[in-house]
Amino acid sequence: MEQKSFYIKTFGCQMNERDSEIMAQSLGTFGYIEGMEIQDADLVILNTCSIRAKAEQKVMSMLGYLRKTKQKNPAMKICVAGCVAQQEGVKIIEKMPHVDLVVGTQNIYNLGEFLENRDEFKGKVITDLQDNYKIPKFLPDMVVDTTNIENSDSPYPKPFRKFLTIMQGCNNYCSYCVVPYTRGREVSRLVSDIVDEVHVLVAAGIKEITLLGQNVNSYGQTNEVFPGRPNYGFADLLKKVAAVEGLQRLRFTTSNPKDLTENLIECFGSIPNLCPQFHLPVQAGSDAVLKRMNRKYTIKTYLEQIRQLRKQCPEIALTTDVIIGFPGETDDDFQQTMALLEEVQFHGSFSFKYSDRPGTRASDFTDKIDETIKSERLARFQNRQDEISLERNKEYIGTIKKIMLETCGEDSAKGRTDTNHIVHIHQNVAAKPGDIISVKINFAGQHSLKGELI
Ligand code: 5AD
Ligand code: SF4
Repeated sequence: MEQKSFYIKTFGCQMNERDSEIMAQSLGTFGYIEGMEIQDADLVILNTCSIRAKAEQKVMSMLGYLRKTKQKNPAMKICVAGCVAQQEGVKIIEKMPHVDLVVGTQNIYNLGEFLENRDEFKGKVITDLQDNYKIPKFLPDMVVDTTNIENSDSPYPKPFRKFLTIMQGCNNYCSYCVVPYTRGREVSRLVSDIVDEVHVLVAAGIKEITLLGQNVNSYGQTNEVFPGRPNYGFADLLKKVAAVEGLQRLRFTTSNPKDLTENLIECFGSIPNLCPQFHLPVQAGSDAVLKRMNRKYTIKTYLEQIRQLRKQCPEIALTTDVIIGFPGETDDDFQQTMALLEEVQFHGSFSFKYSDRPGTRASDFTDKIDETIKSERLARFQNRQDEISLERNKEYIGTIKKIMLETCGEDSAKGRTDTNHIVHIHQNVAAKPGDIISVKINFAGQHSLKGELI
């Protein structure tokens, strides 16, 4: 069989990162090998994100660049996969005729099969979305990775942490969000499939796993995940995964406060390898805005959840997502978002200007906020968050933290605390990525810490 090379460029969230790994693995079984340079690849895949207009524009400009690349390498095939593929479908090929294949979010698992007959897929658009489809069992191809561990010629460093998708899709229809349209109905994977995957990963030397889903708190609510156990939920899954011998760090993302259960909050007090870190997107500090966002919780209940989380796990580091300038957001609404920042003192936050997404309910709202007002509010929010993050980070100065190393150089290294803070060390650590070492924190910046070996 003639060997072909592929190159995948991933945009967007961790879910897409995991999907790209699955595509890479499936291409491997169809005789493709991963290349280092995009311009030489026989097949280029853009795994795309459409959460905000900006993300989609990045894909379009990359496709513009690839038009020229393909002129120099006409044999190159271009595939657009993921959320923009799902949303735009055939329109992508109409706008960009050099694109050969469009593969939607539920169809990436069959990518290899579509490519088997390469010369016939020109112009193909595969974007079926089924309501109750099953995410296939996709055991990670870790055996190959581990044989390369000690081989210094291997271009791939030994992986020590992985994402694991436990569910797909979303049924919440927050009024600004495109995900229910791009990823379809919520479907949870079987507990047994997930646990099998965890065992394979841990046996191959993976020390940290992040469970992924659009709203992991509602895991198991829409389909049966454990035959005979109808009420099996996310907290049960978390305990089961955490119990796999050898797993050192467990994280998960993302959560919707409306589905955050007491059981799950208690996990932070009772599961030793569950990292004391929680990303709990609040989106806005005003109940009126939350209502129009269709979020189905209030600031009062959110604050109570934060209180309970801190009670269970006083060292927990909390982060959030906020949308600034949602249609109809008044000065007073925005002030309430600023007040929430003061009240919670998040360790960090991701904040975005509201962006209209086609097909969502909010895109039809008439009271849109002026771009300059959005930018002003965003800057105020981010400046204040930066100050708070710095204050929070300074609390770590003088403490001793265990960090899992990510990169190790001659005289410097970088790793992460269990609270998910990046720590830089300007020393030779005599250890390798994936190892956990103890450091004393001696400096705090807004976005990272510095430490020294003890
Ligand atoms: N505009 C701006 N931000 C958005 N997000 C989701 N949809 C939009 C939108 N239309 C943000 C939310 C979500 C994060 C992943 O992206 O804050 O939590
Ligand atoms: Fe989007 Fe809301 Fe679903 Fe999150 S919970 S993916 S914001 S619709």
